[in-house]
Amino acid sequence: MKETILVTGGAGFIGSHTAVELLDSGYSVVIVDNFSNSKPEVLDKIRQITGKDFKFYEEDLLNLDGISKIFDENKIDAVIHFAGLKAVGESVEKPVEYYHNNITGSLMLIKAMKKHGCKKIVFSSSATVYGVNNPVPFVEDMPTSATNPYGYTKVMIEQILRDVYVSDNEWSVSLLRYFNPIGAHKSGLIGEDPNGIPNNLLPYIGKVAVGQLPQLNVFGDDYDTPDGTGVRDYIHVCDLASGHLCALKYVLENKGVEAVNLGTGKGSSVLDVLHSFEKACGKELPYEIKPRRAGDIATCYANTDKAKRLFGWEAKHSLDEMTADGWNFIKNNF
Ligand code: UFG
Repeated sequence: MKETILVTGGAGFIGSHTAVELLDSGYSVVIVDNFSNSKPEVLDKIRQITGKDFKFYEEDLLNLDGISKIFDENKIDAVIHFAGLKAVGESVEKPVEYYHNNITGSLMLIKAMKKHGCKKIVFSSSATVYGVNNPVPFVEDMPTSATNPYGYTKVMIEQILRDVYVSDNEWSVSLLRYFNPIGAHKSGLIGEDPNGIPNNLLPYIGKVAVGQLPQLNVFGDDYDTPDGTGVRDYIHVCDLASGHLCALKYVLENKGVEAVNLGTGKGSSVLDVLHSFEKACGKELPYEIKPRRAGDIATCYANTDKAKRLFGWEAKHSLDEMTADGWNFIKNNF
């Protein structure tokens, strides 16, 4: 039997796809989630897709005793840490909640890991840590910064994990900086299903496609980009999940701290994504150009050399495959 991996936030969008990948690859999986932005049904979908079972704890990372109990009851070899609040706008309105939940939650997890001698962690960071002043493509050794509390929590947790390693060189830490995850599992059983009106582009377009929202509002067409709309590095969530498996293998075999970009290295504009989605769902979707959204940058895409060099990993899916798989999930679940 392979190692036992604790997945925090394993019922969420990226966590659930990574849990599938782990189970398919023969790892033992323990999931902890408080369902703050996910649904219990996802757990059964993971079982259905993989034909495999796993242990689940409904628990909040803020509860140190509850988290310690998971380590008491299971011999956890490594942790993949997704759990956290992730809405940029909401973080500006509720900074204390974001700092408490994301940072204190991570500290509790690290405390429980230390107490149980578990020193291997893959952390869900974000391209948001490149801030607004670095030129594209973003390279891992660029200075990090943030423009909102959500982004600061990612910058700070990266720093906390670096300091943990400085204090004890037995640790192995992978800081994965995701670009824009979209798409869904091929089965159409799991995907991105946020509560309320979506903030992110893909679920928003999905709601327009199924008629729950009247039109897409395109935030700005006067950026210095080929068509004037914002450019992002969209990556299929299954590619992202396979990147986590590579990072996990790396932390199981090596010590140290490595920040690694998980992106495709290619940029697509808002209109590229919209038109690709229109092909997937077979209809034209209404949109209107609106003013820029506060805090958005023109262009964001990854330099992917380090992931190739360190993990031997690269993203495989095209934009059209991402929107097709996204639509396959949305049409059955929204
Ligand atoms: N956009 C629209 N209309 C919408 C939603 C988005 O035009 O209704 C545009 C945005 O302006 C941007 C692009 O679509 O140009 C992507 O926006 P998203 O909100 O989907 O994603 P962001 O790039 O803003 O944010 C994502 C993650 C954050 C992360 C950030 C930086 O959601 O968690 O990438 O990596 F911090």
